[in-house]
Amino acid sequence: IEQELALPVGVTLDRFIMHSQSAFPYATGELSQLLRDIALAGKIINREVNKAGLIDVTGANGTENVQGENQQKLDIIANIRFIRALKNGGEVCAILSEEDEDIIHTGNDHGKYVVAMDPLDGSSNIDVNVSIGTIFSIYRRITPIDSPATIDDFLQGGRKQVAAGYILYGSSTMLVYSTGDGVNGFTYDHSLGEFILSHKNIVSPENGVIYSVNEGNYNSYTTSTQNYITNCKRKSYSARYIGSLVGDFHRNLLKGGIYLYPATAKDPKGKLRLLYECYPLAFIAEKSGGRASDGFREILDIVPSNFHQRSPIYVGSTAMVDEAIKA
Ligand code: AHG
Ligand code: MN
Ligand code: MN
Ligand code: MN
Repeated sequence: IEQELALPVGVTLDRFIMHSQSAFPYATGELSQLLRDIALAGKIINREVNKAGLIDVTGANGTENVQGENQQKLDIIANIRFIRALKNGGEVCAILSEEDEDIIHTGNDHGKYVVAMDPLDGSSNIDVNVSIGTIFSIYRRITPIDSPATIDDFLQGGRKQVAAGYILYGSSTMLVYSTGDGVNGFTYDHSLGEFILSHKNIVSPENGVIYSVNEGNYNSYTTSTQNYITNCKRKSYSARYIGSLVGDFHRNLLKGGIYLYPATAKDPKGKLRLLYECYPLAFIAEKSGGRASDGFREILDIVPSNFHQRSPIYVGSTAMVDEAIKA
């Protein structure tokens, strides 16, 4: 860790990963390689996202995913690109994606890791040139090497994540991730084709004045959540809601704030998916000093039971989450 902290802002992601690995003398480098593969997938998706308006990749694909959402063309493209990068990388034996009902076996049964992902987050913002993202969550497999991965590899629970993070395709493209000790952010330099360390050791502000929630659903929130929102207004907090979880989360991580997607009448279990939306962002929240709860438990303590299950979420600055969930 000390070595890692010694690295200055401005080093490349590769250099940073190499340095972090050398802090663990017995590390074999597979997780490092996997993180590089994810960065490569991020660059490829970034390229597609950037030219979305020029080529025919905006709009609906005319298909639905397992959760009954209309898939956008870019949801499908990002999914394919990400799966391909992880297959070619060789470290991952199976992938769980928002866009596929079952796990995808990569053919690399020798791989030690599995990845759960939201290939394109913020679908509704693709066509209107607003920030979108990719979310990923990594586990070390618990099934034996050289056998096919199973459901058990993915249902280990949020505390078993060995790394998690997101890529934000915003005013600039950023990769933010943690392997458990601290959270670091890298900004993509297009001219170099490299992610560069720009946000070293991100610490979530303890408190903040931004609240992010789809207030159109206000009438279906519980009284205590309604009261919290009313309180935010009474204190003249700033309402900021993009509708891209990655973007909303990232802003609040840097500036201090809370993101909430409570249970609603339409989605009584909440809308966001536990394995590839809530867990990874809860991991980043905790590792940066923030908090993530479903209103009753820490998100990372929820025992998962299926791939695409949903959860309510209250995530961000600790003091704000504390306040929002107190009955
Ligand atoms: P996705 O685009 O991956 O399906 O995720 C959509 C999620 C998340 O990005 C966002 O915060 C939330 O849906 C917005 O939902 P509402 O439109 O209901 O506010
Ligand atoms: Mn979706
Ligand atoms: Mn999403
Ligand atoms: Mn998505």
